[in-house]
Order: sequence, then C-alpha cells, then structure tokens
Amino acid sequence: MTASAALSLFDIVALRREFPILNQSVNGKTLAFLDSAASSQKPRRVIDCLEEYYRRYNANVHRGIYRLSEEATFAFERARGKVARFINARSQREIVFVRNTTEAINLVARSWGDANLRAGDRILLSIMEHHSNLVPWQMLAQRTGAQLEFLPIDGEGRLALDHLDAQLAGVRLVAITQQSNVLGTINPVAEIARRAHACGALVLVDGAQSVPHMPVDVQALDIDFLAFSGHKMCAPTGIGVLWGRRAILEQMPPFLGGGSMIRVVGLHESTYADVPARFEAGTPAIAEAIALGEAVDFLQEIGMDRISAHERELLGYALERLSEVEGLRVYGPTTTEMRGGAVSFTLDGVHPHDVAAVLDSEGIAVRAGHHCAQPLHAHYDIPATTRASFYLYNIPEEVDRLVAALHKARTLFG
Ligand SMILES: Cc1ncc(COP(=O)(O)O)c(C=O)c1O
Repeated sequence: MTASAALSLFDIVALRREFPILNQSVNGKTLAFLDSAASSQKPRRVIDCLEEYYRRYNANVHRGIYRLSEEATFAFERARGKVARFINARSQREIVFVRNTTEAINLVARSWGDANLRAGDRILLSIMEHHSNLVPWQMLAQRTGAQLEFLPIDGEGRLALDHLDAQLAGVRLVAITQQSNVLGTINPVAEIARRAHACGALVLVDGAQSVPHMPVDVQALDIDFLAFSGHKMCAPTGIGVLWGRRAILEQMPPFLGGGSMIRVVGLHESTYADVPARFEAGTPAIAEAIALGEAVDFLQEIGMDRISAHERELLGYALERLSEVEGLRVYGPTTTEMRGGAVSFTLDGVHPHDVAAVLDSEGIAVRAGHHCAQPLHAHYDIPATTRASFYLYNIPEEVDRLVAALHKARTLFG
C-alpha cells in the first residue's frame, strides 16, 4: 500500500479494536459514532498513556528537583516536540499549550490584537467561521475600534475569492478556517496567505477541523498562527495548541499572568519568561499534553495522507448514498474535491433535532443544531442542520445505516 492510499477495510477493522468505546450497543444497536467533528474518540494507547502518568509519575512540571517531576517535565516537553514535528514547525518553542482552539484564538486576539490593532484597522474573516473564530474578533473590535470584514461564499459553499485583493485593503489580520465544521469545505489557505502577506496582513488559521484530518504543514502554508484542539484528534479534552511564528510570538505580551510565565517578580512589576512559557501561566494540563503527544504518534503511524484518503472515500460514498434520500439537502460542496468529511444536511418536513433523535434510536450518534456557526446558518436562512462527520474509524456500513435511518425518519414524520 502506498503512503497516500486509503486504509483498507482490513486496516479499519483492526483499528476499530483500538477504540474500546466503539464496541458497545446504544439502544440495542452497535454504536455508529458519526460526531467526530465535535470530539473524536480515543484509542486505548492514549487512555493508557493518561493512566500511566497518574499511576507512575504524576508530578508538577518545570519545578521539582526530583525524579518524578523530571520525568513529567521530560514527557511534557517531548510531547511539545512531537506536536512541533507533526505540523512542521521550525522549533518546538513555537508550540504554546492551551486548552483548546478557542483559547488559542482568544490568546492571539488579546495579546497580539490589543497590542497591534487601532481604530480603523481591519480584520478579514469569512461567513463560515465557527463562533470561536468570530466572537474573539468581535470583542477585539469593540475594544479597539477595529472593523470586521467578511469573505462571502458561493453556491457550493466555497469561499468566493474574486474580490480578495480589494477586500484586503487596510487588513491587518486574516483569520480563516482551513476546513468548515458545517460545510466541510477545505479553504485554499496557502493562496489566501500569499495574497494576504502581499498586502502586509498576518494570517491566523483555525485548524480545529483540518489538523486532525489531513497533513498540515505550517511552513508550506506560510501562515503566521495555527490553532487546534487535542480532543478532535484522538487526544483528551483540555489540551490544545497555538502555533505561532517565533518572531511574532516573541513580540507579543502575555495573555495571563501568574506562575511559570515570569522571569523576575517584584512587588510592583515583573519581567516575563521567553516563549512559549510566557503564554503558559499556571500549572498546565500535563497528563493531557503528554497524551496529545501519544495521539500524534498514533496518527502519524497510520499516516495523515491515508487518514485523509480514507475519509474522502467514505465522504464520496456518503454523498452518493445521501442523494438517494428524498427531500434531503446537503450544504457545502457536492463533490469530494477540497472537501472534508463533515456533512450537514436538512430533511424536508423533519426538524434536525427529530432527525438526530431517530438516528439515536438506531444507535447512530450525529449532531443537530447550528454547530456554533449561526451566521452561516442565517446565510442559508435555516436555524439548524443535522451533521454526520467521519473519522479514521468509520466504515461504509455506518453510512448505510445512516441512510436507512433517514428513510425511517421520513416515514415517521413524512
Ligand atoms: C472550525 C472550528 N473552530 C473552532 C472550534 C472550537 O474548538 P474547541 O471547542 O475545541 O475550542 C471548533 C469546534 O467544533 C471548530 O469546529
């Protein structure tokens, strides 16, 4: 098998055994977990890694001059190195451990934003952003008088970039998702970054839905910040990453004050540690960071190319099978090109919450609602969608079950 070939069914069956949670019944049916865009399941080795930390070497990091603390510090910093290599950062000093994507983006808005933006400066977003990549910029705009501008989308749910150069005038920061959590659209981040840089703007990428699902190389993309969450990529909750170009991070003031982020503290003022410690005030999520490193090893051993190819195959199959369901409308691109495995849809005459309830009765876990993207739903003039999302452990049979349950929902409510 070549590195970029999809996973075979044989591979997936073996792989599914690594996820203990998948081996259970829900409402008398085998669980079909189709909500990984919200949070992924965790393989046994990540769960074991968490447990091993608490059983064998639980201690605070960067402080103790004793064996356990040194071991914890070593494992914590080794995890930072693994994450750096995973996204091809130039140095592990560019990796800031935070709680999640939301905190990473807020860090940039508070620290870089407050220090650099003035009234009249512009921030360019898109209408498909998750609230995490919208609300922090609204708050920054309110504090500074900066203005928010939005890239529109076309009929296929792709960014309309025809007027990008004109829209970039006066823009200091472009903050854009690499993959929409609703539409599945994969945005041409490298091209946007090239054009944004030509206009002197920095580029922040929300990688919450891309880093878990495809190879992401911050140097190849030539971006300035990348934010992502561990819990969507087989790691625990409570750990996320802000990657930033070192030269930019070094110019940024701290976001939170406290222990671990200082150099010298006086009663009236303090000096601050170098990056990344400057942005990691207080005791970090030690076990979770180490387990994120384990999750990165797990994903890399399978291969991000293969994971992405597998999801694309499954997505192609899902788009084809969903088109058989009468009254079903998929939002976002209708082909697998530059599209990830989050499929949001509506079913005529059936509320998305009712759709999700029928699916649950069949043991199928999906999400219904606005998926933290209210402006995007407003664009389509709908309050909510149902979303099925795929990851490395999903199989075509689960798509078949989804389609069968959707026919059932139509019959029940039709
Ligand atoms: C595109 C996107 N951005 C940001 C987030 C926020 O992630 P978190 O809740 O882990 O901070 C999500 C979560 O669903 C997302 O899908």
